[in-house]
Amino acid sequence: MIIDSQGDLTLAVEQAMAGTPDGRLREIMGALVRHAHAFIREVRPSEEEFERGLDFLVGIGQATGETNNEVVLAADVLGVSTLVGLLNKPLDGVRTAPALLGPFWRKNAPECALGDSIVRCGTPGSRLEVRGQIRDLSGNPIAGARIDVWQASPVGLYENQDADQPAMNLRGLFTADASGHYHFETIRPAGYPVPTDGPVGDLLRAQLRHPYRPAHIHFMVTAPGHATLITQIFADDQERLDSDVTFGVLKPLVATFETTEDGHPALRCDFVLEPGETRIPKAPIP
Ligand code: BEZ
Ligand code: FE
Repeated sequence: MIIDSQGDLTLAVEQAMAGTPDGRLREIMGALVRHAHAFIREVRPSEEEFERGLDFLVGIGQATGETNNEVVLAADVLGVSTLVGLLNKPLDGVRTAPALLGPFWRKNAPECALGDSIVRCGTPGSRLEVRGQIRDLSGNPIAGARIDVWQASPVGLYENQDADQPAMNLRGLFTADASGHYHFETIRPAGYPVPTDGPVGDLLRAQLRHPYRPAHIHFMVTAPGHATLITQIFADDQERLDSDVTFGVLKPLVATFETTEDGHPALRCDFVLEPGETRIPKAPIP
């Protein structure tokens, strides 16, 4: 098609892609072009603004490597990652809501016995017990479910970011008992800023947004015959629950404190898995 005005362009591109044999790719690219053109028509970027936008995309690609994924971070701070999660697993009040894997999960966390502490050195902090039960959609306990846990320290650093913590500090892999229960000891994590030394940090500063995630504990729960659950739990007394820079705080993921029999705080984290397959993601860091 020969273009006679800007109005012809969207149709011209759609026609050019119409022969894409993969139907889903055709659908996705068609929608992408229609929305991108509508966005351009709404925003009417100047040539300079267009260049700046392209520079941002180039920048997030260039800032992405083995240990840092600026592209995922951009998707996170724009709410895109959480939106994809919620559309694939809508909050239904039954199964546990998913949350971002984040960049700090590592494979091969130390195998732990129920009740063990994941604090592997004298890291100072407030003692916390975490306990709960793994169940299926019908409420039946899932015996032997595996619970992989990782969290930041009370100064807001994961062990791989902090020379003062031993390897695998605040990480552990637990196996639920015959009634689906698990429990472990830890210390309360702190919130922390996402990396701000790349183009995403520049964007957050330009928007006068803080870069913090509220304190949370990550969980990956697996059991044969059930879909892998990747989620995070937040405590109800944390700062910035309503302004997580990655929009990861979903109402059902905010847990309340209980008090243990001997009077110290415990966070109750029950998880409900749906049928499906165990899928272990690619570890973002080695
Ligand atoms: C995290 O929770 O570990 C995380 C998620 C997204 C961006 C940065 C960190
Ligand atoms: Fe985290």
